[in-house]
Amino acid sequence: MTPGARLAAAIGILDRILDGEGAEPALIRWARQNRYAGSGDRAAIRDIVFDGLRRKRSAAARGGAMSGRGIVLGLVLQQGQDPDTLFTGTGYAPPVLSGAEREVIERPDGASADLEHDVQDWVWEILRADHGDAAPGIAQALRDRAEVHLRVNLAQADRDTARLRLSEEGVETVPHPLADTALRVIGPDRKLRQSAAFQTGLIEFQDAASQHAVAALGPLNGLTVLDYCAGGGGKSLAMAAAGAQVTAHDAAPDRMSDLADRAARAGARIEVCPPARLDAGRRFDLVLVDAPCSGSGAWRRSPDAKWRLTPEDLSAHVALQWRILNKAVQYCCKGGRLAYATCSLFRAENAAQAARASSELPLRLLHDRQLTPLDGGDGFYISVFEVV
Ligand SMILES: C[S@@+](CC[C@H](N)C(=O)[O-])C[C@H]1O[C@@H](n2cnc3c(N)ncnc32)[C@H](O)[C@@H]1O
Repeated sequence: MTPGARLAAAIGILDRILDGEGAEPALIRWARQNRYAGSGDRAAIRDIVFDGLRRKRSAAARGGAMSGRGIVLGLVLQQGQDPDTLFTGTGYAPPVLSGAEREVIERPDGASADLEHDVQDWVWEILRADHGDAAPGIAQALRDRAEVHLRVNLAQADRDTARLRLSEEGVETVPHPLADTALRVIGPDRKLRQSAAFQTGLIEFQDAASQHAVAALGPLNGLTVLDYCAGGGGKSLAMAAAGAQVTAHDAAPDRMSDLADRAARAGARIEVCPPARLDAGRRFDLVLVDAPCSGSGAWRRSPDAKWRLTPEDLSAHVALQWRILNKAVQYCCKGGRLAYATCSLFRAENAAQAARASSELPLRLLHDRQLTPLDGGDGFYISVFEVV
């Protein structure tokens, strides 16, 4: 496909997303209906769609319309490309610019400074209240693609050896400062899933902030750990690699369906335990609550969620997190630890929950940390309590 044809495809997909379809289903539907498109085309179109969603508000303002076409035109302009070389109307490229579009894009100032933050107004208010002077930088960081981070399975090899093996397979990486296990990919990453390093469990995909959160739990060797909201099991695997005896649990057991295979690949043993099998009398040295949340710290990865979140959703997340904390604390042994984490940037889901837990549950806060994208990974919150 030509660059123009890729833009035209992205315009159609963005229109569907603006009509309410999820980003992933819209991309999958397009790929099914356009089987001539190769993997390179699909990846490029996906990048345009996601870039457009990350900057939806400012790109639409720059391109003159809240539509797929407006967003893509704005994006092209933001990236310093000449739209006349792409909106040519020839072949499958988008039609040439109209007079009205030309008028909008020739306005001297483009999008206003506030639009440049590219978050909903009510979210911007929260970011400003919670993060003060750091808020503009955080909002700006959420407009760009996330880096690709890997977790080295230290049970198999050290980080330098993993870098060497990856390099032999054509993937260049550098150590990430947020965790001793973390690598940042600086070379091509599209073939990583087919690499021997991934297939043999030497590396996993995991953001450096999540790896930092696992490191913040302290030494895990020999501890019994309940990963109460295990989901796909990213943290379970990381904790098992650090020597913990992990029991993975999730209210939606289907989300753990790949975990046994992933654990086998990593050479780890993890007990996968759906809610019906979690004995109410069991006690663990550490219970991790990696709670469902707004996902605001990970909006670079799922940018459509940035525009879908409502204040009511946020309140519902806070209420659910509190219910889960009350339940999970029952599985901690006295003198043990409970860790509460989210991939949220909002105080209401993070430090405010930790403060409430300290005053209303038998928990004493030992330490906590709020990471933002300015720390080099996703936004992530981790708090660790002693059970008293
Ligand atoms: C942030 S995700 C977990 C991510 C996972 N720990 C990882 O590292 O990949 C939150 C998980 O909480 C689960 N969940 C939601 N409500 C729950 C509940 N009441 N009890 C336990 N898990 C719940 C969701 O199904 C979801 O998988």
